[in-house]
Amino acid sequence: MADNLVDLLPAQGRRPARGGASCAQARRTEGVVADSANGMEPLDVLYEADGLPAYDLPDELRTLYGGPLGFTEPRVVANFVSTLDGIVAIPGVAHSNRLIRAGSDADRFVMGLLRACADVVLIGSGTLHGSPRTLWIPERAFPSASPAFSELRRRRGQPPDPELAVVTGSGALDRDHPALEAGALVLTTDAGAERLRGRLPAASELVALGSGTSVDPRDAVAALRERGHRLVLSEAGPTLFGTMLAAGLVDELFLTSSPVIVGRPQGDTRLGLAEDADALGSARLELRSLRREGDHVLLRYEVNPRAEELRDPSL
Ligand SMILES: NC(=O)c1ccc[n+]([C@@H]2O[C@H](COP(=O)([O-])OP(=O)(O)OC[C@H]3O[C@@H](n4cnc5c(N)ncnc54)[C@H](OP(=O)(O)O)[C@@H]3O)[C@@H](O)[C@H]2O)c1
Repeated sequence: MADNLVDLLPAQGRRPARGGASCAQARRTEGVVADSANGMEPLDVLYEADGLPAYDLPDELRTLYGGPLGFTEPRVVANFVSTLDGIVAIPGVAHSNRLIRAGSDADRFVMGLLRACADVVLIGSGTLHGSPRTLWIPERAFPSASPAFSELRRRRGQPPDPELAVVTGSGALDRDHPALEAGALVLTTDAGAERLRGRLPAASELVALGSGTSVDPRDAVAALRERGHRLVLSEAGPTLFGTMLAAGLVDELFLTSSPVIVGRPQGDTRLGLAEDADALGSARLELRSLRREGDHVLLRYEVNPRAEELRDPSL
């Protein structure tokens, strides 16, 4: 069923359905469009807040993104693509990420760009197992911009790729996963560490973070900070993201909203953006940028910039 569904998706690299980049923008970016292996159009910038930080982006990245990008540090930045009705994962359906992304090259580009900025990419074991062949590096998200991603990291004095950190309470990991073979930091409980000790590929490293059945996400982020990681990119699924959000750990959210509605049949296990956590009244977001690629919109939010509003929900 899933493979047939994927066949129905719009082709990668399609042009925007309506409008698109302005003529001036198109002229400015002609060379980049021609050079881009999959022909992605530069993002159409509909709104950008004043005074956002700016890294020294290579021209290709700045043009495709539609302007500068940067972060104050330290930060935890999360990235998701969601259907219009808020579904981010459909367990049991193969290629559900592609169904949810609905053919957006821009989502893949922004994913690659955020990875290229990050010191570490943080995921939970559900996300690791949901993508059994993936490496969480910039090149895998958007291969044609790989040289520019590398140049950005060189300019910022970072190693060639961000580190990968995987959170698991149980320690039940697929030890043959290529991301563990390539080297990852596994953040787990004492029991999880006991289960995994001596069994991970040599390039991976275990960190035990306490005796409970789960890891306190504050301890997970603190462990990353202790290793010198300032910009943490969460590509975790909705379970880990939900607990991080509820713990007040997420500073920014990048959210691609796809022009699809998938519904939630009774009894179905489709996952919304934040699962297994109550964020009611604890997450108030402020828009920082709004970009468009055809029928997709790409949102950048700051989480809880005004803490006083949380104390008075009527505001
Ligand atoms: N649409 C998107 O943008 C997007 C983004 C990311 C992921 N996804 C999809 O989401 C699905 C996975 O969802 P998910 O919610 O299961 O992913 P997840 O949050 O990345 O992983 C959940 C697992 O991580 C471990 N975990 C999470 N929080 C923990 C904590 N505080 N302490 C200890 N362990 C913790 C647990 O593993 P143990 O059972 O090992 O203890 C838990 O079962 C996949 O299909 C993935 O592709 C979609």
